[in-house]
Amino acid sequence: MAVFILTTAFVALFLSEGLVVKAEVPSYIAAVYEHHVILNPEPHVPIEREAALVHMNKNLDVFEEQAASAAKQGAQIIVFPENGLHGFKFTRTSIVGYLETVPDPSVVTWNPCTEPDRFPNTEVLQRLSCMAQKNHLFLVANMPNRQNCDNLTDPHCPPDGRYQFNTNIVFSDNGTLIARYNKLNLYFEKEYDTPPECEHVTFTTPFAGKFGIFTCFDILFYEPVLTQVKMGVRQFVFPTAWMNKLPLLAGIHFQRSFSYATGITLLAANTQAKELGMTGSGIYTPWHAVYHHDKEAKSGKLLVSKVPVLDPSMMEDGEESSKLKLVPFSGHSKHRSTAASQFDVQEQQKHMSERCLSGDMQCRERLLSEPPTFISNMMNDNFTFVPLQGVEGNLKVCDGSLCCHLWFRRSGPEEELYALGAFRGIHAPRGTYYLEVCALVRCTGTEFRSCGGGIENAQTVVDFRLQGTFSTPHIYPGVLGSEMTLDRPDESGWENKSEFYMTRKGMATGLVTAVLYGRVYEKDGYGKRCP
Ligand SMILES: *[C@@H]1O[C@H](CO)[C@@H](O)[C@H](O)[C@H]1NC(C)=O
Ligand SMILES: *[C@@H]1O[C@H](CO)[C@@H](O)[C@H](O)[C@H]1NC(C)=O
Ligand SMILES: *[C@@H]1O[C@H](CO)[C@@H](O)[C@H](O)[C@H]1NC(C)=O
Ligand SMILES: *[C@@H]1O[C@H](CO)[C@@H](O)[C@H](O)[C@H]1NC(C)=O
Repeated sequence: MAVFILTTAFVALFLSEGLVVKAEVPSYIAAVYEHHVILNPEPHVPIEREAALVHMNKNLDVFEEQAASAAKQGAQIIVFPENGLHGFKFTRTSIVGYLETVPDPSVVTWNPCTEPDRFPNTEVLQRLSCMAQKNHLFLVANMPNRQNCDNLTDPHCPPDGRYQFNTNIVFSDNGTLIARYNKLNLYFEKEYDTPPECEHVTFTTPFAGKFGIFTCFDILFYEPVLTQVKMGVRQFVFPTAWMNKLPLLAGIHFQRSFSYATGITLLAANTQAKELGMTGSGIYTPWHAVYHHDKEAKSGKLLVSKVPVLDPSMMEDGEESSKLKLVPFSGHSKHRSTAASQFDVQEQQKHMSERCLSGDMQCRERLLSEPPTFISNMMNDNFTFVPLQGVEGNLKVCDGSLCCHLWFRRSGPEEELYALGAFRGIHAPRGTYYLEVCALVRCTGTEFRSCGGGIENAQTVVDFRLQGTFSTPHIYPGVLGSEMTLDRPDESGWENKSEFYMTRKGMATGLVTAVLYGRVYEKDGYGKRCP
C-alpha cells in the first residue's frame, strides 16, 4: 500500500462574501523554471538528428540542474517552459530533426528511463523521464512531437504524411509518461499542425489530485482550459513562451488575472528570450502569487513555493475545506454585489457631497460631466479614451454597447497622464479574438496619443472603482503596479447582474494598468470549438 503524507499550511482564504477564514489545508510544493533558452542560431536551416540532439542536450543539461535544485527544496512537481528545449522560428522542414514520436499514454504505459529501447528515436523523452525518476518529482516539459498519419485514409493528415504537434508531456515521479497534450491554439507557428481533435488532458498526482494542462496562447481561448475549469479542474500546469505586451498583456499580469478570475492554481513557466520580450513566470493561487519578471535577465530563474491543494476530491470533509470551493469570485455566474461594494458606492457619493454644497446640482453635474473623448491605439486596437482630470472624479466612456465607468482619487505627480479606455470588437491582426475591455492606463507621455503605449513605471497612486456593461461573463480583472509589481483587486464581481466591477485602494506602488479584460469567446473569428 502506498503511503503519502499531506503537508498542511496555514492559509488565509478570502472568500466571495468578504469573509477571511484561516484554515489548515493540505498543501504541496511546486516549482516552475523560467529557462533562458539556448538557441539554434539558424533555425530555418534543416539539421540532422545528431545535431538537433547536441543542441537540445545543452538545454536538457540546464533542466537537469534545475530539477535537482527543485527536488532539494522539496518540490513534488516542476514545470518547464514551452519551446524550452529547441527554441523558435523553425519551418515545417527545419524542425524535423528535433521531432520525437510521443506515444499516447492513455494507450501505452511506458517508462522511457527504464525501457529506453522500446521506441526508437526517443532520446529527449528518455532524459526527461530519468530526470523525473532520479529527483522523485512530477515533471512537465514541452517538445516537438511527430505523429505519422496516412494521407489516404485520414482527411486531416498533412500531405507529407505526418502531424507535427507542439506538445506538453508529463512524467510521474517514477519516470512513467502519464500525459501528453498537443497545443490547440497555435500562435503563428508554421512548423506545427493544429490537432484535428480537441482534447481535455489531465493527470493525477498523489499529493494534490488532478491537474489540467494547456499552453501559452491557449490562455486567451475557451478551449481547452475553460471546459476543464467548468468540469471542476482547479489546478493547471502552463508551459508558455509569452511575449510581454504592455499595458494589457504582460505575461505575469495576465497569468495572475486568469488564476484570480477562474479561481484556479496556475503553475506558469515561461521561456526567457530577451530579443523576443519573453519573461514572466509564476506560481499563482487565487489568493497569492510568487512570480518573476526580468526583461534584462541573462539566466533562468527557479521558483519554488508551497501551494494549497485545490482539487475538491482531495479535501477532507468539513467546514473549512468546503469553503475553498467558494472561489472563483468573478467567473461564470452573474451573482449579486457584496456589502463591501455598496460601501464603496456610498463612499464615492459621500466624497462627491463633500466637494459640492448639498443641493448644488450644477456642481454635482460638473463633477460627473464628461471630458472630451479621443481615439488612440492600444495594442493594435482603437480604444476610445477619456483623460483623468483633477485629483478625483467620475468618468464614463463607451464603445458601442460597452460603457466603462470609473471613480478615481489620485495622488502623486500631476504630469503623469492617465486615461480610461473602452474597446469592444475583434482584435486583429495578431490573432483574431473578440474583446470587451475597460482599462485605466498610465499614458507614456503627456499627449493624448501617448495613451495606449507601454510603460512600466508610475508614481501616481490611484484609488479606484472600475466597472463596465459587459455582455460576456468571462472577465479577467488585473491590476499592475510600477516596475512590474503585481497587485490585485480588493474586490470584484457583478453589480445589478449587468455590470462587472473591481475596486482597489491604497496600493503600495504607482498604478500602471487596471483592466477588466472581457472575452466574448462565441464571437471569435476563429478558434476551435470542441464538441
Ligand atoms: C502521402 O504521404 C506519403 C508519405 O507517407 C508521401 O510519399 C505521398 O506523396 C503523400 N501523398 C500525397 C497525395 O500527398
Ligand atoms: C509509477 O507511476 C505511475 C503513475 O503515477 C503509477 O501508476 C505506477 O504505479 C508507478 N510505478 C511504480 C513501479 O511505482
Ligand atoms: C484605427 O484608427 C486609424 C485612424 O483612424 C485607422 O486608420 C485604422 O484603420 C483603425 N484600425 C482599426 C483596426 O480599426
Ligand atoms: C442598480 O440598479 C438600481 C435599480 O435599478 C439602480 O437604482 C442603481 O443605480 C443601479 N446601480 C448601478 C451602479 O447601476
